[in-house]
Amino acid sequence: MDASFIHFTGGQTGAWQVTGMTPVIGPALDAVAAIDLHTATELLPSNGTWTLRGFSSNVRYAEKTEVEQLRAIQSGLGRPEAICAALIPIRKSAAWWALAQDERRQIFEAQSHHTATGLQYLPAIARKLYHCRDIGEPFDFLTWFEYAPMHESAFDALVAALRQSPEWQYVDWEVDIRLTLQA
Ligand code: HEM
Repeated sequence: MDASFIHFTGGQTGAWQVTGMTPVIGPALDAVAAIDLHTATELLPSNGTWTLRGFSSNVRYAEKTEVEQLRAIQSGLGRPEAICAALIPIRKSAAWWALAQDERRQIFEAQSHHTATGLQYLPAIARKLYHCRDIGEPFDFLTWFEYAPMHESAFDALVAALRQSPEWQYVDWEVDIRLTLQA
């Protein structure tokens, strides 16, 4: 089955219990108690308080050596010990999208060291990036991370470092949603 779309549905029930929802920049999302993830072959309508939709895609910025480094050490989603998660929807500004691809790569890695910084947190943090700018969604990206409780402070340090970087000057909407897997 081609399950390239992902639906994050926020509502009263779901596999992941919401432990915090922080609007980092821009408006908050309506508060929900839980989030469910569904893969799908098509874009389905929302059936919760809200649904954020995205799709996995090819890499844009990672170069060959970085892709190889990531593949060598990254862990997959769904590890039994990784009962904590973060869903961080992100939108970037018109100024970012007006840049050429090479200018964006320059800011993303040469100036902000996004991949180099992130690699230091692997394999403890498992990650998945979904795109949604091209399907009319409110955000440009849905970022999803899973980790064990003992790595929560490391994850907090990682997001703090990225938010200090030049890349984040182009982030104009970001909501930080933290979750734990329902027992
Ligand atoms: C866990 C360690 C992390 C690693 C190894 C990592 C690595 C990467 C890589 C390689 C890409 C580029 C994908 C491509 O070439 O298209 C990327 C994109 C992205 N990452 Fe991370 N990342 C990490 C953590 C984070 C965190 C914590 C956030 C959010 C707070 C985040 C937000 C994003 C966003 C929004 C993009 C898309 C950027 C764009 O296309 O403009 N990443 N990440």
